[in-house]
Amino acid sequence: MPLLQSIVAKAYYPLLAVGIFYFTCLGLLTHPVIQNNAIYMQKLKLTWRQDLTRPEQFGFAKNQVTPFYLNTTDGESIFAWHVLPLGLYMEHRDELAELETGIETNPAEHRSLQLLKDDPEARLIIHFHGNAGTLGAGIRPIYLRSLSSAHPSKIHILAIDYRGFGLSSGVPSEAGLIEDGLTAFRFASSLGIPSSRIALVGQSLGTAVTIGVADSLASQTPKQELAAVITIAGFSNMKELLQTYHIGGFIPILSPLRGYPKVRGFFESFIYESWNTTARIGSLVKNSPSLSLVLIHAKNDFEIPWQHCEKLFAYATNAAVLQGGEHAEPLTLGEALEIRKVKNYGYESTHAWWPEERSYGRTISQWLVKWGGHNQVVMSAGTSVIVSKALGL
Ligand SMILES: *[C@@H]1O[C@H](CO)[C@@H](O)[C@H](O)[C@H]1NC(C)=O
Ligand SMILES: *[C@@H]1O[C@H](CO)[C@@H](O)[C@H](O)[C@H]1NC(C)=O
Repeated sequence: MPLLQSIVAKAYYPLLAVGIFYFTCLGLLTHPVIQNNAIYMQKLKLTWRQDLTRPEQFGFAKNQVTPFYLNTTDGESIFAWHVLPLGLYMEHRDELAELETGIETNPAEHRSLQLLKDDPEARLIIHFHGNAGTLGAGIRPIYLRSLSSAHPSKIHILAIDYRGFGLSSGVPSEAGLIEDGLTAFRFASSLGIPSSRIALVGQSLGTAVTIGVADSLASQTPKQELAAVITIAGFSNMKELLQTYHIGGFIPILSPLRGYPKVRGFFESFIYESWNTTARIGSLVKNSPSLSLVLIHAKNDFEIPWQHCEKLFAYATNAAVLQGGEHAEPLTLGEALEIRKVKNYGYESTHAWWPEERSYGRTISQWLVKWGGHNQVVMSAGTSVIVSKALGL
């Protein structure tokens, strides 16, 4: 008996400690400032002793990347990189390597951006990264190179650090990040790049920015329709994300409260920004009659489970079906997934797409890839090919 008691006691105290720790953390997260920092993790730069204004430090060739600031309508300054495709860089290396390095104060006239403007076939990816860290953090510079690698000279990239991140000013917010994305788009337009040659590509939190920006562009007048809207490791909305998210693949946030709907509901009422991508994706599909939407997700993503991708696909296709007029009937998630056409690429991926006769001019497509997890999936060769094809190359 004393033995059993001591075993129970030994198990009880650590459990109690974990429980107290867990609820203390949740309690802290209800504070708006703490929640803002926990969701965006903008203070975590992950680029110690590196200088974002010197992209060579991140493995780029001299002046392959032009760093500059964009200016938002609400007065924030947003740090950006323009990445030149390597083949094009090679053709112009001698000339480019001679130029000054560091922040460019007149980006529209910079030689690299002129090369983008001068090529009527050039494509531009506007990239939105996930939370935590700057655009130079971790594998991000590597996947920026990888994303443009499916074609030697046509795929340029404009990557930004949202407000509050890295060298950008301000504090992150849902409306603010979408404004930053729109600012990047407007800059590209000001260079004379038509939206039909621009794709938005976002990863993780960046997918919510991607859909938010695309939705906003499609609902303004005149309507701006993009070459492609691409999400990698997306999520349905912030509430469902927190119910299923695991930090680093294993630390849960709200999933331990699954059996306690009242307690969970209490904490959920403190989620200040809804990042409701399912709602926005519906409105994007409705307002963008020639939309090309590509949803990519790795099956082994342990931070954001791939079921979020199924949900986004179902919401998007349902919105397409509803464009069919009076006979249109909303579909359930199961029905939507049942109707899609599927092609298996065996060991690598599964491609599913919405049948043409139900799309009313739109292309809605989903790639469930087997490898790559939450982050590395962006730099896989297969992803570069999907993105490049979506750009019509
Ligand atoms: C934004 O403002 C800064 C500082 O005035 C300027 O150097 C930069 O060129 C501006 N960016 C654009 C894209 O015009
Ligand atoms: C997201 O939007 C949809 C459609 O407008 C709505 O039904 C749903 O409740 C919203 N979800 C959240 C978490 O705000």
